[in-house]
Amino acid sequence: MVLRKKSPPPGKSQASAKSPRWSPSDYRFMALAFAEADNVKGKTLPNPAVGAVLVKRGRVIGRGGTRPAGQAHAEIVALEQAGAQALGSTLYVTLEPCSHHGRTPPCSLAVIAAGVAKVVVAIRDPNPKVGGRGLRQLRRAGLEVSVGLMEEEARERYAGFFFFITKSRPQIMVKIAQSLDGRINDRPGARTSITGKSAQAFSHGLRARADAILIGAETLRRDNPDLTPRLVKGPPPEVLILTRSGRLPRKSKVFAPDRQSATVVIGGSGKSLPAWVEHIELPLELTAKPPEGLVASAAGRVTSSKISGKAESARSKIRDRKTALNDLDLAKALLAIFATRGYHSVLVEGGRSVWKVFLNSGLFDQLLILTAPKLMSKGESWEAVLSQDWGKSLNFRKFASLGTDFLAEFGTSDAQG
Ligand SMILES: NC(=O)c1ccc[n+]([C@@H]2O[C@H](COP(=O)([O-])OP(=O)(O)OC[C@H]3O[C@@H](n4cnc5c(N)ncnc54)[C@H](OP(=O)(O)O)[C@@H]3O)[C@@H](O)[C@H]2O)c1
Repeated sequence: MVLRKKSPPPGKSQASAKSPRWSPSDYRFMALAFAEADNVKGKTLPNPAVGAVLVKRGRVIGRGGTRPAGQAHAEIVALEQAGAQALGSTLYVTLEPCSHHGRTPPCSLAVIAAGVAKVVVAIRDPNPKVGGRGLRQLRRAGLEVSVGLMEEEARERYAGFFFFITKSRPQIMVKIAQSLDGRINDRPGARTSITGKSAQAFSHGLRARADAILIGAETLRRDNPDLTPRLVKGPPPEVLILTRSGRLPRKSKVFAPDRQSATVVIGGSGKSLPAWVEHIELPLELTAKPPEGLVASAAGRVTSSKISGKAESARSKIRDRKTALNDLDLAKALLAIFATRGYHSVLVEGGRSVWKVFLNSGLFDQLLILTAPKLMSKGESWEAVLSQDWGKSLNFRKFASLGTDFLAEFGTSDAQG
């Protein structure tokens, strides 16, 4: 993902990157194609959500987004709508048309066969099966092809898909909002709004681009979060809730029947969930509580209640190792679930027990820390649940101001597993 100093919500970035190569109507039609992509986000996995618009003499004659996997791609939906009018038209498409036989025939051939005259593509597809071949095919058939309209927008939207294509696993983004003194709430378990509007809009942009958000059951019980990208009006990701007890209030916002995206509970028995909520079991050994002796103090620091001195140091090393092993196993199991669901990117929003799983195991790709200039000394600190050798593979990537807050972004050299 590309971070700018101030991150506008999805759909706005083209304004800052206008190029004389394109006319205002080119921008308008590509923005419409992105809107079509938004309409189908979450319904196309494991395929990317692509949008296409066909235009003739300044009029839209066909438009659409990718249908569920195995069905028509966006270009075909638009071509079907346009019918014979497609002859001599211009196609605006948010990702390079495919050129290979997958579950559906190549879009590039359909575009050629329909007599489309010009194709405008936001970004090339890094998929080795496509990688410029679709564009070459179109050009060889005599179509005028241009690439790069709203490319920055496309790069951000498809960051998860591009990651997935190159690494064969979903991208894991861990996001933490904290006070200057590293606290995540103003008192243990309290719901606390930490950052200002700009940082919240940035976070909602992350939500809009992710396929799913993962939270812990305690965050659900305490905060009853909505987890939609409402500040940027983007497509809502699926919501995943990690639990062992299964104790989840039915009146939670994420269980409302009119939500636009799925809610999935991972762990617990799955009993007494609303019928429209999906449930995925976790093996009992993965949901085991942290080793005995670990208790969180009021300030959230993990301490031992029983032991002290040298013995404590030795035992805490063993506990650390055990916890890290548990975290690694659980992180791998969660990654397998994400892969089965076809996600390209997952945003881990917290709280501490969920961050811990990914941060301790090293199975994450981006750590985004949003810091507000305030002190919350009575709150819980997130670093308290991390193992001693945590953070060794972290690389600093970016620093940016977001209103009164600031963002620090870290990456990992390469995740294990
Ligand atoms: N500042 C921020 O960015 C931010 C973000 C999110 C949350 N928060 C704050 O964080 C606090 C809550 O965080 P928290 O750390 O107390 O709780 P949490 O991480 O949100 O959730 C903890 C719960 O997750 C489930 N869980 C943990 N490990 C598990 C495992 N191995 N297998 C299955 N389920 C497991 C358990 O659910 P059951 O109890 O149901 O078994 C556990 O009680 C709240 O104050 C919230 O406002 C802050």
